[in-house]
Amino acid sequence: MSTKAIILAAGKGKRMNSALPKVMHTILGKPMLHHVIESCFNANIRDVTVIVGHDAQSVVDSTKYAVDFVVQHEQLGTGHAVLSAKDSIAPSQQVLILCGDTPLISPKLLELLPKIKGSAQGVVVSTTLENPTGYGRIIVDDNRAFEAIVEERDASSAQRAIREINTGIFLFDGEHLLAGLEKITNNNDQGEYYLTDVPKLMAANGLKLVVHHEPDSAQFLGVNSQRQLADAAEIMRKTVIDRHLDNGVQILDPQSTHIDADVIVESGVIIHPGVILQSKCHIAAGTVLLPYTVADSAVVGKNCQVGPFAYLRGGTVIGDYCRVGDFVEVKNSTLGNNTKASHLAYIGDAELGDDVNFGCGAITVNYDGENKHKTTVEDGAFIGSNVNLVAPVKIGKSAFVAAGSTVTNEVPSKALAIARQRQINKENWK
Ligand code: UD1
Ligand code: CA
Repeated sequence: MSTKAIILAAGKGKRMNSALPKVMHTILGKPMLHHVIESCFNANIRDVTVIVGHDAQSVVDSTKYAVDFVVQHEQLGTGHAVLSAKDSIAPSQQVLILCGDTPLISPKLLELLPKIKGSAQGVVVSTTLENPTGYGRIIVDDNRAFEAIVEERDASSAQRAIREINTGIFLFDGEHLLAGLEKITNNNDQGEYYLTDVPKLMAANGLKLVVHHEPDSAQFLGVNSQRQLADAAEIMRKTVIDRHLDNGVQILDPQSTHIDADVIVESGVIIHPGVILQSKCHIAAGTVLLPYTVADSAVVGKNCQVGPFAYLRGGTVIGDYCRVGDFVEVKNSTLGNNTKASHLAYIGDAELGDDVNFGCGAITVNYDGENKHKTTVEDGAFIGSNVNLVAPVKIGKSAFVAAGSTVTNEVPSKALAIARQRQINKENWK
């Protein structure tokens, strides 16, 4: 039986108190929805339909994965959401249902579900929470046969005391899912069509449902509020840090280190406290990131020393054995091997060759108020302290630019450029 996944992502997320659609809130650099899609892919489920609704276009535009989208025009409940995708469900398939606001879901579990289902017609995934507030409660009979899921607001006080909750993850035979969806009503406190009524109807009709209880409850954290988003982010942050530690990265203070989900850090890198690595950074072996270095989509070669307080922005590519020191900002620039910008510099839209020395306080003047211009510094050039390189400009191989110069014209290879006023001393001036 082939498996298709449906991810519910149409809700506004009122409880987030934010203009952004709920599933677009990011965790470690990626919207929650993208984490869920990747979990499906990592579980080898390739047939994925995402139900969008609130701000549908922006969700579709920012979700560049090979998935299908179905628009749920009005958000009338989780059952109604799945029903809006009914044309994409084949009765002969089994359908995995996930929520776009459950970003920690492990691909391992998703991969196992068909086996867990066996010859039954569906699986309801449950877990037990210390504090089940806000989740639907699982009702089973004395033999643990599934009876119903009752939402908190529809539950009696006895039902509210149940700590086994609905994780929102189901696997159903397409045939029975489709039949159930046609029958559910909105006769509940919220006046919504609940997906959770489908397994109840199935059970009432004598179909077999497995209640799969998963002890690792953290992966089911459903994000309905900013607090829960922060909780989920913290859980994922720790998981990512542990993965890097296991791979041989030395992280001096895991508590204060933030590494986005897609960052690659090679074994042997040393990361000091307060480092933030965002988006698609790649840090090669032997490099030391000193305290409070911030890098966003930067590629750093082997055996470099970066920071403290360095800022590497998008499009930064740094070679091997480089030094990028304190309060140096690099943006959309390439540094060759063994190049140094040790303190207080700005390198923007520039190409620096090998063995360049970029002095303290030197900057590229890359922006004229309208356009960005390129600076080229060839191999072995020495840029003295407090130099302004007014782009577009080129400094030739092994050229030397004297401290304090404002360079507006090309400096030929091996030349010395001095572009500043000569000093005048007025004797006995005071
Ligand atoms: C839901 C479950 C609850 C479960 C919890 C797990 C129902 C009725 N309740 O509650 O039993 O414990 O998840 O986290 O299913 N959505 C749509 N269209 C809609 C409504 C919702 O696409 O019309 C999407 C939301 O964007 C969200 C997901 O479905 O991603 C779940 O909806 P939400 O309102 O968060 O349900 P919960 O109250 O958390
Ligand atoms: Ca939810």
